[in-house]
Amino acid sequence: MEIITIIFLTVISLAFSIFIKLIFFSPTHKLPPGPPRLPIIGNIMWLKKNSFSDFQGVLRDLASRHGPIITLHVGSKPSIWVTDRLLAHEALVQNGAVFADRPLALPTTRVITSNQHDIHSSVYGSLWRTLRRNLTSEILQPSRVKAHAPSRKWSLEILVDLFETEQREKGYVSDALDHLRHAMFCLLSLICFGEKLSREEIREIEEAQYQMLISYTKFSVLNIFPSVTKFLLRRKWKEFLELRKSQENVILRFVNARSKENTGDVLCYVDTLMRLEIPTEEGEEEGTKRKLSESEIVSLCSEFLNAGTDPTATAMQWIMAIMVKYPEIQRKVYEEMKSVLSGEEIKEEDLGKMSYLKAVILESLRRHPPGHYLSYHKVTNDTVLAGFLVPRQGTINFMVGEMGRDPKIWEDPLTFKPERFLQNGEANGFDMTGTREIKMMPFGAGRRMCPGYSLSLLHLEYYVANLVWKYEWKCVEGEEVDLSEKQQFITMVMKNPFKANMIPRRR
Ligand code: HEM
Repeated sequence: MEIITIIFLTVISLAFSIFIKLIFFSPTHKLPPGPPRLPIIGNIMWLKKNSFSDFQGVLRDLASRHGPIITLHVGSKPSIWVTDRLLAHEALVQNGAVFADRPLALPTTRVITSNQHDIHSSVYGSLWRTLRRNLTSEILQPSRVKAHAPSRKWSLEILVDLFETEQREKGYVSDALDHLRHAMFCLLSLICFGEKLSREEIREIEEAQYQMLISYTKFSVLNIFPSVTKFLLRRKWKEFLELRKSQENVILRFVNARSKENTGDVLCYVDTLMRLEIPTEEGEEEGTKRKLSESEIVSLCSEFLNAGTDPTATAMQWIMAIMVKYPEIQRKVYEEMKSVLSGEEIKEEDLGKMSYLKAVILESLRRHPPGHYLSYHKVTNDTVLAGFLVPRQGTINFMVGEMGRDPKIWEDPLTFKPERFLQNGEANGFDMTGTREIKMMPFGAGRRMCPGYSLSLLHLEYYVANLVWKYEWKCVEGEEVDLSEKQQFITMVMKNPFKANMIPRRR
């Protein structure tokens, strides 16, 4: 009964919005082409037929038929997808300000982000600028990143311990992604809360974060027609809000502990958030500023922990899988390290001398970017791209995974070839920011480009270098490394995680 009412009201509201649109809105430019669209429902039915689980395959297939910019319809809202790197450059870099907005968040996301008060989801404007500048100029500036070198060493020890324990107990390693995530989480929570928390405390925060992450799908029904579901699905809303409350309680415990004990040594993210003042919004007194609320601080800490952990751990899973699958590449990484140093471990200052290692990491980000799309963008005004309308009412996204595999840009794109990024290689001198041109964009490009990209490159280099320096990673007999992919929340992980034996290197 509940579901029937929701569907009925949804259909009526969508039909009404389409009717209004048809009467009042007739643009000179057309939307980009796309598959046939059913009135009201859009392309959803069509997509379902072609499987939601292979969304990228569906988009690839559509792009081969309709071209590099296509429209899908979710209900009445157009969702535009771009596969072409030149169009991505035109939009995100050349017309950066127009394409830098974010759409209105869904109701459950609004709760999780404290009404779009985190960097990812905030609309393009003064709030976004203040939050992003706080992160980049306080936490991500080079001297502060350097000050966290001991934190990285600490989390590397945790990582090595996790791997060694699994190798000892099982006889091989198979949970690399879990270990990498946990080690990254230890590091990010130290940078966030300014304290080495116990492993139990870290697991508690991880669990609260995980519950919030799965709530995006578990409670998605609440977003269908919120004013109705708020009434009809009261119990489900209550359950969701309680989950958010318990996440807030966990994170606020560590925030409050920091605010009482702030000793003024290395500044942590929470310190910056406690003193930050954000511009007031509509309805509040104009021109004044205010402090962040507790819920907003939780959303920003949560964003920092997730953004800094998941994609980096995923990228590292792929890189280590490559090391196991291609012993020759692993050998070259090791030989390069041997030629530039001799100590017990790799220090951060040594990384600058390792161009082959850097090339392996870039090649892995090209071939296996952790995210195959960006976060949804929105334009600030109706605009035109490639001769088609990009309406303010819709969303636009870019197919990162496809760009890294485009045969028009990359020679033999499916082959793993780090040499591309070395001197005389086809991508020698590659610029990750894509300012001049975009060849691939695992971190996005333009104004919304990932602000943590150099930090994550440092993390990838530091951990991979030390893992290969300390151990030889060998394929388990009869367990070939399979590089098939699987979408897991926002990242593309290995469908079948690799298994390996780690053998200490004797020097
Ligand atoms: C391998 C690791 C990482 C990858 C592949 C990655 C990728 C991305 C991508 C694709 C976006 C969306 C860009 C867009 O929508 O145009 C993004 C945004 C973002 N990332 Fe990362 N990221 C990584 C690590 C990090 C780290 C370490 C941090 C922070 C410590 C971070 C913080 C953020 C934030 C705050 C945003 C939102 C930016 C905005 O909307 O202005 N990321 N990242």
